[in-house]
Amino acid sequence: MEKLLIDGGYPLAGKVRVHGAKNAALPIMAASLLIDGPVVIRNVPDLLDIRTMLSILRELGCRTEMEKDAVTVNAGSLKSFEIPETLMSRMRSSIFLMGPLLAKFGEVHVYPPGGCAIGERKIDLHLQGLRALGAEIEQKGGKIVCRAKKLVGADIALDYPSVGATENIMMAAVLAEGRTTIVGAAREPEIQDLQNFLNAMGARVVGAGTDTITVDGLKRLNPGAGAVYAVIPDRIVAGTLMIAAAATRGDIELEGVTPGHLTSVVHALRLAGVQVEIENDRMQVRCPSRPIAVERIVTAPHPGFPTDLQAQMMALLASADGVSIIKETVFNGRFRHVHELCRMGADIRVDGSSAFIRGVPRLHGATVEATDLRAGAALVIAGLAADGRTSVEQVHHIDRGYDRIERVLAGLGAKIQRYVQAAESLNV
Ligand code: UD1
Repeated sequence: MEKLLIDGGYPLAGKVRVHGAKNAALPIMAASLLIDGPVVIRNVPDLLDIRTMLSILRELGCRTEMEKDAVTVNAGSLKSFEIPETLMSRMRSSIFLMGPLLAKFGEVHVYPPGGCAIGERKIDLHLQGLRALGAEIEQKGGKIVCRAKKLVGADIALDYPSVGATENIMMAAVLAEGRTTIVGAAREPEIQDLQNFLNAMGARVVGAGTDTITVDGLKRLNPGAGAVYAVIPDRIVAGTLMIAAAATRGDIELEGVTPGHLTSVVHALRLAGVQVEIENDRMQVRCPSRPIAVERIVTAPHPGFPTDLQAQMMALLASADGVSIIKETVFNGRFRHVHELCRMGADIRVDGSSAFIRGVPRLHGATVEATDLRAGAALVIAGLAADGRTSVEQVHHIDRGYDRIERVLAGLGAKIQRYVQAAESLNV
């Protein structure tokens, strides 16, 4: 059991480089199953989810290595199309191994990834897309068995721009016969990164970043030796640090970011009175005075305000001047941080999918629990801004998406330590 101990009230200051995007690296690692030889993926963050994905790839027969930020996957020795239930349940992202495994073997066995602390997470759109490509899908006991004699390109219209379903279908379509068109596709930057990776490996995919993606299938992907690809910077980590700087009335410079991926976040922060200056891949974020309430923030698929920054933004607005409203439209149960923020003195009322946040002058430290990854990040931000000491428990959730968050924040002047209970020791 590990927790983060934070002494709040110190403005963040200094420079920080943002690590690679987990949500880009995971589907790209899954897509490496489509490739006959070794591929090196760079700028991969060292996170629990990445290590879980490596375990699954090894379980399937791949040879993998992780050396600093470079992951090598060689799917030449791929031997299994069944993902064990224990690994499936550790990470929802395992679901998008379905598309590549089906494309490679004509068969895949998985288990439903299950619910999650942020609400219902269905996979109907994933299955609908794979069916359209020719798969027959049956549920046997708890297992989902998916078979296709061959995959044939199809026109697929998604009712909702699901990120994972778009990625799964793209990957299966790469080795399908003929052309696949996905209409109503998700437009997230991570989808563009997957397209760029697939094309770097010889695939023919166009349209990612728009709502229509076209994939012309090939018999095999074999980019030859020396295939290397670097994933994009993590826009959610960047956004979290920007919000943390604002909440502490700090002044930080982010390096190695893609500002175009953060347009809606910059807009929301500026509405809150935060100063954001952008120059190429750098962003300077300053907040000299108390933030002001934002009338309304609505989470939405990209390019809307990301649901993955909703909790962090709420932590900031909890001590803004005035009443803010945040409406969550992507997930139906993503307000579990509200209870914890209220334990720190926040005044927040939830009504259906909307949260009404009446800003208080200061939050105070408390013992709180990270209920999921981004809720945990929000509590860290609240702790940095609060008076006194905050203890954030269940840190393993935060470790799924932030590479040693306490080191990054301590590098910016935060008073934050990781407490490892078993060893009865403090690690900064
Ligand atoms: C991805 C991100 C996650 C982010 C989310 C939304 C990764 C690894 N994770 O998750 O961090 O919060 O996008 O930006 O990239 N839905 C269905 N049926 C489906 C699939 C999804 O109804 O078959 C619904 C979900 O229940 C949810 C919404 O669509 O309400 C969004 O889900 P989706 O875009 O699929 O998110 P993920 O790919 O799981």
